[in-house]
Order: sequence, then C-alpha cells, then structure tokens
Amino acid sequence: MSDNEQKAANDARTAPVAVWQILEKLKGQDLVDWRVAEVTNRTSIKERNLDIGYPFGWYAVEPDDFIEAGQVKPARYFGKDLAVWRGEDGKVRIIDAYCKHLGAHMGYGGKVHGNLLECPFHAWRYDGEEGNVKEIPYARVIPPQVKRRCTSTYPTTEANGWIWMWYHPEGIDPLWEVAVHEEVGNPEWTDYEMHEWMVYGSIQNMAENGVDVAHFKYIHGTADVPAAELRWGEWGRGADVRAKMGTPSGVVDGLISYDTMGPGQSWVKFHGISETLLVASIVPVEEDVLRVRYGFTQPRAEVEGAGAGLAKALIRDICKQLDQDKVVWDRQKYEPNPIICDGDGPIPQFRKFYSRYYVGEGGTPGSARLEAAE
Ligand code: FES
Ligand SMILES: [Fe+2]
Repeated sequence: MSDNEQKAANDARTAPVAVWQILEKLKGQDLVDWRVAEVTNRTSIKERNLDIGYPFGWYAVEPDDFIEAGQVKPARYFGKDLAVWRGEDGKVRIIDAYCKHLGAHMGYGGKVHGNLLECPFHAWRYDGEEGNVKEIPYARVIPPQVKRRCTSTYPTTEANGWIWMWYHPEGIDPLWEVAVHEEVGNPEWTDYEMHEWMVYGSIQNMAENGVDVAHFKYIHGTADVPAAELRWGEWGRGADVRAKMGTPSGVVDGLISYDTMGPGQSWVKFHGISETLLVASIVPVEEDVLRVRYGFTQPRAEVEGAGAGLAKALIRDICKQLDQDKVVWDRQKYEPNPIICDGDGPIPQFRKFYSRYYVGEGGTPGSARLEAAE
C-alpha cells in the first residue's frame, strides 16, 4: 500500500471538520439527550418545501415487544393519531385513533374485545381489518354509515423484531413484502443494540445521503470516497461499497452493502472489520419530524471474542456518522431544483427513482425537470 493509500485509510477515522463545533463537546448522556431533543425553533414545513406528503411503503413503527395480546396503545405517525392493539389471536392492528361516534381517542383507555378494539367512551367495537363497527352493545341497530368501512386501517406484519405498518395515502394494499433478515433472532447473533434519534427533516433527504458522495469528505471526514456499485430494483435499491478502512489494528478491506425495500425499510451489512447488520427504522411522525432507530446485530462469536473492541467501535462510528448528518438534516430544506456539479453523486437518478413512492403525476416536485436534464 502506498503512503497515500495508507493516509487515506487512516483519515477515515479523523474528526469531521464541517460540523465539529456542534458535536465535539457532546459526550455520554449529553450526546444521547441531544440526539432526541426537539429542535424547537425550526423554519416552517412550507418554507422548507417539506409539504410533499409521505412516501408509501412498509415502515418499522415499533419493536415487536411494544404491545402484548390484549393491550391497546396510542401512536402517532404520518401526521395521524393512531390506536394500536394486539388481538387475542396475537395479530397487531392499527386504526385511526378517533372514534366515529363522538370522537374519543381510542388509544387512551380503549380495550381489546376478542380481536376487536372497543372504544372507551361507549364501547363501540371496531374491526381492525375491515375498518367498520361490528358491535354496539347498547344499540339494537348499527348505523349503516359505520356498518361498512368508515375509518382507515393499516396493514401490519411482524418481521426482524419489528412491527411493520403499511402506509399509503390512498389506502392501496401493500405492493411488496418486507424483506426478512435471517440474522435477526438467530441465536448465533446478538440481540439488537438500539440507538435512537429524532431527525427534524424529510425522509427523502435522509435517503439521498447514501448517493451524495461528495458529503462524505465534508461531513464525515473521509479523505476519499470509493466508487459504489449501485443496484436499482423495482421497489428497492442498493449499493456495494468496497473500501480500505482504517482501524486501530491497521487497514482492512471492507465491504459495505446497503439495501432498501421502499422508503421505509433499509439495512446495511458490514463485512471486513467486524460482521455487522444494521437494521434501520425510520418513520415520519410529521412532515418535518422523523423517528429514527438503528438496531445493530453482530455474531456472538466476534462480540464475545478478541474482536469485541472493533465490533463496538464500528457501531460507535456509524452512530457518529448519523450525528454528523443530523446537524444538516435538522435544518435542510427540500430543494426541488438543485444545482448539481460534476463531482456530485447520482442525485438526479436517485430522485427519479424515489419519485415512484409518491402518488400523483411526476412524483415529487422537481423530478420531471431532473428527468429532462439527464
Ligand atoms: S365516542 Fe367512541 S363509542 Fe362513543
Ligand atoms: Fe452521511
């Protein structure tokens, strides 16, 4: 390896320059608190061009131990108040929270009745698949307006240790399945090590980060960004990045494979330093609020063996990268007509691809123009 290559590899571990003044003093609990603290003085959604709705797909809304059979809980995602319950059959159901009768929020005080959700106010009982009222214990006749579908329900599934919710603004049924990771739940792999952030920005901007090759140097302090082999599928996309990575015990050949299924499922496999699977949960709460959780799993043999330090360091480094990006994402607007230079990554191609996750003509604002510019 030449001196320059050696330097490039070591530089991958140097401190970032651009956002360092914000992050350098944050350590331990201060850093954990900063990651989830509300950014209160942010510019309006409209001014940041974030009023473009939510992309449709499967989203990992809660870990699978969030709710037990017979429990009801409130949740808020996609700008909606929701009620979540697990029926006696073990299946999770999600419905719009507000009762069609007199508007009670069923996530607070609602009860599970068999597999139905019973409103706390007057015990109207909702079906979580059909979105209608099945029983009103004190009425002889169920009003016809609620006997048929009268509210929104959301398809759910469980995989990879998460409860998944299908979101589509027009209530279209799922268009693909959640990808399943065999590492999760495998006794030879660790339970998730979970890290959490609130990001005050758009999920599309966050996704664009992976193809924005130029930012790696200025935000993450890497000296060089190796070329990625990109994959573009029907609903998913991915990349293989081969890189020489600097570690405390020398330079190693690393392979980072990144994949997505829709806008709400993404995972990254790291090979080389320490085998690691990162399963990301990124869910919009509002148009400018994202709940982000990263679950890491690694082979027990590595974590409990001599490589334990490296395995931990890898997780720390990935979290640090998210901290660095968050400084930008929290304030970034959506720029529908970006001015791109020749050193940028395939941002127009990414946007054209991503526009398939929105309903309506032309997808996101600006995508038609980008297409014309290609
Ligand atoms: S408000 Fe829900 S049953 Fe009356
Ligand atoms: Fe980044």
